[in-house]
Amino acid sequence: MLVSSKELLLAAQKGGYAVGAFNTNNLEITHAIFRAAKAQRAPILVQISAGAIRYAGIDFLPQIVRTHARLADVPVALHLDHGPSFEMVMLCLRYGFTSVMRDASKLPFDENVAEIRKVVEAAHAVGVPVEAELGRIVGAEEHVVVSEREKAMTDPDEAAEFVKATGCDFLAVSIGNAHGFYKGEPNLDFDRLQAIRDKVDIPLVLHGASGLPDDQIRTAVSLGICKINIDTEIRYAFTQSVRKTLAEQPEQIDPRKILGPAIDAMQAVVERKIALFGSQGKA
Ligand code: 13P
Repeated sequence: MLVSSKELLLAAQKGGYAVGAFNTNNLEITHAIFRAAKAQRAPILVQISAGAIRYAGIDFLPQIVRTHARLADVPVALHLDHGPSFEMVMLCLRYGFTSVMRDASKLPFDENVAEIRKVVEAAHAVGVPVEAELGRIVGAEEHVVVSEREKAMTDPDEAAEFVKATGCDFLAVSIGNAHGFYKGEPNLDFDRLQAIRDKVDIPLVLHGASGLPDDQIRTAVSLGICKINIDTEIRYAFTQSVRKTLAEQPEQIDPRKILGPAIDAMQAVVERKIALFGSQGKA
């Protein structure tokens, strides 16, 4: 069933586990995510970015998720990932998303606060929780110098001020995490996460979790991360499977024979992440 992400994340916070937030772009990825959630009896967030909406259409992709959620006996939230504008948030509210992220993290602190306040006011008016980001989560870059890396990270005092000033429901933190596959050895700043946790009591979100070693994920969850975003590892499983099938069967022209195994491969990734996050059996 479709639920608000707030109830999922508050339960996770209380229970000391994290809910997986898995990105989808199409029917096959959505099938894989739902099959995994049902097999593992796990609550999940299915997230759609502005790029995914552009690709698949606002009248199609959210409907696929909503239909799955209606038929599933596990709780599911439909979430906007990295909302690039107030207008995109409004569109998603109209299409029945049950939580939204407005990413204004590129803006100076005061402008980020003003923008998130505006989004919170609108979304809360229709009972939808809001995720915001403070600090910048960059793409995976090998040669970023330490001072640059630290400058992009979330400051614990600012985080406390930000949450109080905006009224946002969840906060995405930058603690050395990056989108895409990591080029160097990933190394999350757990002291910083602990300091943020000490000052902020809303659920914290970890973006860029593909490619993070399992022990770092477990530590992040133990320090209060309640929502973990996974996109790249699902994409990778999809494309590796398609490549393999086409290499083995160059004559194959039936999309079902090419995409079916890809769904299985993506399901396996999502199931493994659910178990790692501790949300298995929590539905
Ligand atoms: P990955 O690229 O590490 O999968 O992160 C996805 C993400 O954070 C989406 O917001």
